[in-house]
Amino acid sequence: MATSSSSGGSPFPKWQIALAVGATGAIGLGYWYLRQQYKEGKKANLTGIKNSISIDDASQDTPITETPLQLAQRFKNEGNLQFKKGKYDEAISFYNKAIEVCPEGQKLDLATFYQNRAAAYEQLKKWSSVITDCTKALEQNQKYEKALFRRAKAYEAIKDWENCLDDVTAVCLIQNFQHQNALVMADRVLKELGKQHAAEAIKVRKPRLPSNQFIKTYFTSFSEDPVYKKLISTEEPIGEGDVSGFLKAKLAFATENFEEIIPACTEEINSSESESHFIMEALSLRASFLLLSGGHKDALEDFKSIIEATNCDVKIKVNTLIKRASLHMQLDNIEECLEDFAKAAELGPDISDVFHHRGQVKLLMDKTEEARQDFSRAVELNPDFAIAVVQKCYADYRYAMISQNVAMLMQNISDFKKATERFSSCAEVFVLYGQVLTERQEFAEADKLYLKALEIEPYNATVLVHRGLLQLQWKGNIEQAVELMKDAIKLDEKCEFAYETLGTVEVQRGNLVVAVDLFDKAIGLARTETEMTHLFSLKDAAISQLKVTTKLGIGPQLLKPNI
Ligand SMILES: *[C@@H]1O[C@H](CO)[C@@H](O)[C@H](O)[C@H]1NC(C)=O
Ligand SMILES: *[C@@H]1O[C@H](CO)[C@@H](O)[C@H](O)[C@H]1NC(C)=O
Ligand SMILES: *[C@@H]1O[C@H](CO)[C@@H](O)[C@H](O)[C@H]1NC(C)=O
Ligand SMILES: *[C@@H]1O[C@H](CO)[C@@H](O)[C@H](O)[C@H]1NC(C)=O
Repeated sequence: MATSSSSGGSPFPKWQIALAVGATGAIGLGYWYLRQQYKEGKKANLTGIKNSISIDDASQDTPITETPLQLAQRFKNEGNLQFKKGKYDEAISFYNKAIEVCPEGQKLDLATFYQNRAAAYEQLKKWSSVITDCTKALEQNQKYEKALFRRAKAYEAIKDWENCLDDVTAVCLIQNFQHQNALVMADRVLKELGKQHAAEAIKVRKPRLPSNQFIKTYFTSFSEDPVYKKLISTEEPIGEGDVSGFLKAKLAFATENFEEIIPACTEEINSSESESHFIMEALSLRASFLLLSGGHKDALEDFKSIIEATNCDVKIKVNTLIKRASLHMQLDNIEECLEDFAKAAELGPDISDVFHHRGQVKLLMDKTEEARQDFSRAVELNPDFAIAVVQKCYADYRYAMISQNVAMLMQNISDFKKATERFSSCAEVFVLYGQVLTERQEFAEADKLYLKALEIEPYNATVLVHRGLLQLQWKGNIEQAVELMKDAIKLDEKCEFAYETLGTVEVQRGNLVVAVDLFDKAIGLARTETEMTHLFSLKDAAISQLKVTTKLGIGPQLLKPNI
């Protein structure tokens, strides 16, 4: 389906994943922490913002005979006074004196003085001094949360994301994920770091085809792909003896030798000129395989050749526009995506694929009403296309939920049931309905639906992952969930969804090393930078927790499995 590749090795569009894993899988660990908080009914507590300009203060009366420590404290108090007046340079010189006279063994006091001086430097935006002083404070008091958070902010100011993440992770762990500002910061930094790592990784990534099943499913998500129809039709003779070009690609497709397809298409395209019958077909097929393997730039070039050609069958053009639109969606070029869909709708107002695929994009964009209109049109044009029918059910169901229309909700749930009877050989129908029932906490029924989907598609690993998630939600049974997800990987070693989801579960169990390895595998399978960014955020969060827990000697945070 159009948006399928946007969720990596998983053929599920993002909205389905988000649905299944809640905020965790879809948005990243940082948000998940947040979600935990909101779940517990805690409102954002902005006290931390005030903390960030606060300094440690413990006023005392000046005694008659001062010990060095008392003198140091007096200097500190004077410094605090200046700080509160906004006289930061003066404050710094008092803190200097405090540090100078403070006896060496007074670790906690020294830490405070350094921390306070860092606060003054922070006001002056002298980031490297902030970092130095916080580091000194932390040498005296390793778990000094204020110094950690202040240093994190300084690292953020100079865009040193990696160090920033470690500090803010430490704050989160020390505060047991209750420090709202640190949570927000962790989320922000994870995104930056994820983006940076993804941009680096994408440069060296080699194109790689997804699993054979994934490829086949991709093509069947179009009801009117003229090139696919040619590929599977037995009318065009494959030819006798040596075949070459598009016909060779056709043979490769039939025998599932998918890695031969791009070269065969290139042969057709290059040799062509006068005698080629299949140049547009070859361009379309090559572009699809380039898209599937993550060769986006080359895919876009082939798409362009087709769209700009004057002698091209209109159905191929429309199909190409849809494919390019979905690629733009994956690459976060929303405007170009919608433009292509608009062009496709203009060229092929009667082609249901246009509306079916645009409906999915609209759902992803949370434009439920527009999605419903598109699905309606798609089903009107092609009432027997199961995937479109069931996605319409789903969009209608979502809409009924949002608008709290109970009558419609009941109607649509029974429509779903009917769809499972009508399209009893389409796994997607069962999986989507299963997700709806999971959401409605009808777990036993949902599991039956997943089992039925597995009967129809025993090779489909993503269904096993959904079953695993169901075990977690239903029974809190981590062991069984993990088993099912491992089975998914055994079944399809290219199932990105399985690696990612299992990784998230392992983070929750505190198996950080295992989780990092799983995220790495998912990254190797991701096809777009957006997916990679998300996966790197997960991985970076796990690595940072690993580093911090080791360094500070606190156990990894064992969070309740509530995905
Ligand atoms: C916010 O947290 C601070 C200390 O952490 C506490 O004193 C304050 O009452 C909290 N405010 C709210 C609105 O919960
Ligand atoms: C096909 O043609 C393109 C452009 O003319 C060229 O860059 C490419 O190397 C050729 N490929 C083969 C396999 O001949
Ligand atoms: C959902 O319910 C509404 C209102 O009852 C109905 O108009 C719509 O066709 C239903 N959707 C599906 C997919 O049957
Ligand atoms: C697995 O099943 C889901 C749900 O039916 C479907 O969306 C996906 O395309 C299938 N994957 C493969 C590889 O067939």
